[in-house]
Amino acid sequence: MSITTVNTTPFPGQRPGTSGLRKKVAVFQQAGYLENFVQSVFDTLGDCGGKTLVLGGDGRFHNRVAVQTILRMAAAHGFARVLVGQGGILSTPAVSCVIRKHGALGGIVLSASHNPGGPDGDFGIKYNIANGGPAPENVTEAIFQRTATIAHYRISDAADIDLNRLGPSRIEQTEVTVIDPVADYAELMERLFDFDAIRQLFAGGFRMCFDGMHAVSGPYAKAIIEGQLGAPAGTVINAVPLEDFGGHHPDPNPVNAAQLIEIMAADNAPDFGAASDGDGDRNMILGRKFDVTPSDSLAVLAAHATLAPGYRAGLKGIARSMPTSRAADRVAEALGIPCFETPTGWKFFGNLLDAGKATLCGEESYGTGSDHIREKDGLWAVLFWLNLLAVTGKSVEQLVSEHWKRFGRNYYSRHDYEAVETEAANELMASLRIKLATLKGQDLGHHVVALADDFDYTDPVDGAVASRQGIRIVMTNGSRVVFRLSGTGTEGATLRVYLERYEPDPAFHQLPTQQALYPLALIAEQVAGIADWTGRAHPTVTT
Ligand code: G6P
Ligand code: ZN
Repeated sequence: MSITTVNTTPFPGQRPGTSGLRKKVAVFQQAGYLENFVQSVFDTLGDCGGKTLVLGGDGRFHNRVAVQTILRMAAAHGFARVLVGQGGILSTPAVSCVIRKHGALGGIVLSASHNPGGPDGDFGIKYNIANGGPAPENVTEAIFQRTATIAHYRISDAADIDLNRLGPSRIEQTEVTVIDPVADYAELMERLFDFDAIRQLFAGGFRMCFDGMHAVSGPYAKAIIEGQLGAPAGTVINAVPLEDFGGHHPDPNPVNAAQLIEIMAADNAPDFGAASDGDGDRNMILGRKFDVTPSDSLAVLAAHATLAPGYRAGLKGIARSMPTSRAADRVAEALGIPCFETPTGWKFFGNLLDAGKATLCGEESYGTGSDHIREKDGLWAVLFWLNLLAVTGKSVEQLVSEHWKRFGRNYYSRHDYEAVETEAANELMASLRIKLATLKGQDLGHHVVALADDFDYTDPVDGAVASRQGIRIVMTNGSRVVFRLSGTGTEGATLRVYLERYEPDPAFHQLPTQQALYPLALIAEQVAGIADWTGRAHPTVTT
């Protein structure tokens, strides 16, 4: 075994997006591409001597190859220990959990989340810091700067280690330990939730369907829901992670999780349905013939949080991303706690959680989580719902409709225009920005604009400023239209249009969502000229 220094030249465009560096697999397969990025991460970290690194991914195509490369590079940088998930597998929330539990310097997550996998699909890499959360922008920016000037990387020539065999081995001076990907995470969940109550629920005949979408959360859900909680075998479907996710798009929304939606819409549907995404950090919650929006899910969990043992003491605050509906704000107000509005991207919650300002966080993009780790957590949300269902004895639909009665309903939908031409999307946003100053006070057909701006965020903990985070047009009646470009796509640009209408009157709580939001969709088109700029008369995906 020996360590070599390999000369290299920079690859353009290695700037991490909303959630790490994501590119087509073929891009990552170029000699030196992954190595350059990893070297830039290690260079940014400084001295890695004596430190622990956590490593794992969602099992997609290229995962194992990348894991072996990173292990050899970590060894060349003098890490004392690397904890790597068996088979190279660790869900994103499990990485966060393991970093925190073992006091690691940080971790590397290999995932492109819900983006399609396989040889023609996407691959991704993300660095998480010692608190278990995604690296903040100053760190990702420093990594990017480094990628632009890199001249060499260091790597050991050691042979591959056996990723299937649990336990320690050695590369150079580094101890590489293959760990059970589920154990630490399951132990944490057991402390947060009332497993006895959930066991009784299943023992009483309660039926559930969890869709692992052939991605990373399958093994976690099987071990915890079927194993520890005693749900019948077969409760978890599509449970085996596949390198191409079985050809599906492992994104738990009503469009991509069509099989689960169909199961939950049947006459003999289970009581509860849930799904998670490629790397296990997202969640979708369904009742029998009933979908729960992520924004409502956050609000319902917050309103009932003290029913779960881990949250008995109450919440310190709630945080949501700007485009997420304002349902949680009403709960925070009722609880007398603050509600923070952050830009899109889980990394913006990290400081609030570390500072003890917020306990629960959520995003409209099917992400929910808490201060138990520093990532959003798909299975955690599912177990939280199971805890509420078990303790209250109510159905999903009952919990949500009672919530609306108490707080009012925030009708909510996101309209995505995927893979539009980048230039056209940028021009659409630029022309909207120019219009902003003139919108305030305008009557846009029964909606008068109360506020129109480009969202800026100043982190209340460290004062960091993130500007131009999305255009929001807020009406005097509380309705909103928000526009932003996705930071996670890999093809062209994706325009996201978020529509929200607040309805306090229970007599109007049962409208079909798209119908309830139709007037706002018209306003979005009128203000932004979406069809003209994108050439699309309709969104590609509506969630
Ligand atoms: C990832 C991030 C989330 C973000 C989502 C959508 O899942 O972790 O924080 O909300 O992507 O981001 P986008 O920029 O595509 O709207
Ligand atoms: Zn994800």
